[in-house]
Amino acid sequence: MTILITNIKELVQVRDVPVRKVSGADMGILPTIKNAFLLIKNDVIEAYGKQDEMPNITTDKVIDASGKIILPTWCDSHTHIVFAGNREQEFVDRIKGMSYEEIAKKGGGILNSAKKLQETLENELYSQSAKRVEEVMRLGTGAVEIKSGYGLTKEAELKMLRVIKKLNENYPVTIKATFLGAHALPHNFKDNKSGYLDFVIHEILPTIAKEKLASFVDIFCETGYFSVADTEKLLALGTAYGLVPKIHVNQFTAIGGVQMGVKYKALSVDHLEEMRAEDIEALQNTDTMPVALPSCSFFLNIPYTPARKMIDSGLPLALATDYNPGSTPSGNMNFVVATACIKMRMTPEEAINAATINGAYAMGLEKTHGSISKGKKASFIITKEIPSYGFIPYSFGNHCIDKVFIDGYEI
Ligand code: NIG
Ligand code: FE
Repeated sequence: MTILITNIKELVQVRDVPVRKVSGADMGILPTIKNAFLLIKNDVIEAYGKQDEMPNITTDKVIDASGKIILPTWCDSHTHIVFAGNREQEFVDRIKGMSYEEIAKKGGGILNSAKKLQETLENELYSQSAKRVEEVMRLGTGAVEIKSGYGLTKEAELKMLRVIKKLNENYPVTIKATFLGAHALPHNFKDNKSGYLDFVIHEILPTIAKEKLASFVDIFCETGYFSVADTEKLLALGTAYGLVPKIHVNQFTAIGGVQMGVKYKALSVDHLEEMRAEDIEALQNTDTMPVALPSCSFFLNIPYTPARKMIDSGLPLALATDYNPGSTPSGNMNFVVATACIKMRMTPEEAINAATINGAYAMGLEKTHGSISKGKKASFIITKEIPSYGFIPYSFGNHCIDKVFIDGYEI
C-alpha cells in the first residue's frame, strides 16, 4: 500500500541524517520543510521533499494536506497504562487537603491500585487497558513504554506484563515493557523491605528475563519507598539479566538516585522534579536521558522539572505522560507538550524535540521512531488547519489533530 500526502503546509522534524537524540542548544532547532509532500509505502516512510519536486508517480491513495502540518507521532517513554479501576476518591481527598504521601501511608496510592489489579482477571485488565491504548493512539502517540508495578506479587506482575505483550501484538503502536516490581512494598512484606526486594530480584526477575517479558527494569527510588542501596542491588542483577534500567528518581526528594542510574548506564532517569546542581552535573556527558513528566507535576501540584536549567547546561530532555491512576490519570502528549512550554519555559521546538526524537531514544527506538526520516516507521500526525506548529502548545487543551497514522495504518 502506497500513500502520497501532498501540499503539506509544513513537514516537521525532518531529519535526512537521523540523530540519536538532541541536547542543549540543539533542542531549540526543529528542522522542517514548508510546502512539502510525504510518500509512505506499507509501514515505512519512502520519500519526502518539497512539493514542487514531488515525483510523478501513481499511488494507492492521495491525501491533500493543504493548510495542515505533519509531525512524527509522539513517543511517550514513561507510562503505567495497564492498571485496574481508578482512584478518583484519592483525587477528592487531595482536594480536601490530604497529601499524596499521606494517602499512600493510609493504604491508598500504589497499594490501592495493586489490590484492584490483583482482583482483576487478565482479560478484563486487557480490555480496560486497551481502551486507554486506543485513546492515546487517537491523541497522536505512536510509541509508548508501559510499566508493570501494580501487581506486587509474582502472579500479578506477570499478568501485567502479559497484558502489555498482548497490547503490543494487537495494536500498531510500538510498545516497550518495563518491569517495575520494586514500585512499593506490598502488605505481606510490610516490615520486610529486604525480603521483598530479594523476592523481586530472585523470584520474579529471572522468569521475566527468561520469558522476555520486559526490556527495561525500573524502581521507585524515593524516601519512604526504595533507597539508593536498594536501587543498586536491583540494577546490578537486572542488568546482569540483560534488562536496561529506566528508573523513577527525584520525584519528591533528591537522594542520589540519579547518580546510581548513571552508574548502571540507565537509558533514562525519570521525574526529576527535585534536582540539585550535583544531579544536573552527574548527567553531563552520559548516555542517560533525563525525562520530565509535567502532567504529573500539574496533577499533584508539585514542582516542575527545571528544564531551563538542564537544557541551558547542555543536557538533553525527553517529555512523557506518566499515565497512571494515581499521579497522572491522563495520557495526552499534546497536553504534556503545552505544559512543558507554559510551566517549564521550553520553546515549542524544544518541547517537540523532547516529545519525539528524545522520547524515542528513552525507549531505545530512535532508529525507527521520533523523526520524519527515510526508512523510519510511517507514524505521523496530520493536524487540522493551523497557523504553525507552535499553535499546538499555544492552544493548549484544544484538539489540533485531524488524522493519525501509526506504522502506515490510519487510526
Ligand atoms: O510515576 N512515582 C511512582 N509511581 C507513579 C505513580 C504511582 C501511583 O500513584 O499509582 C508515578 O508517579
Ligand atoms: Fe511513573
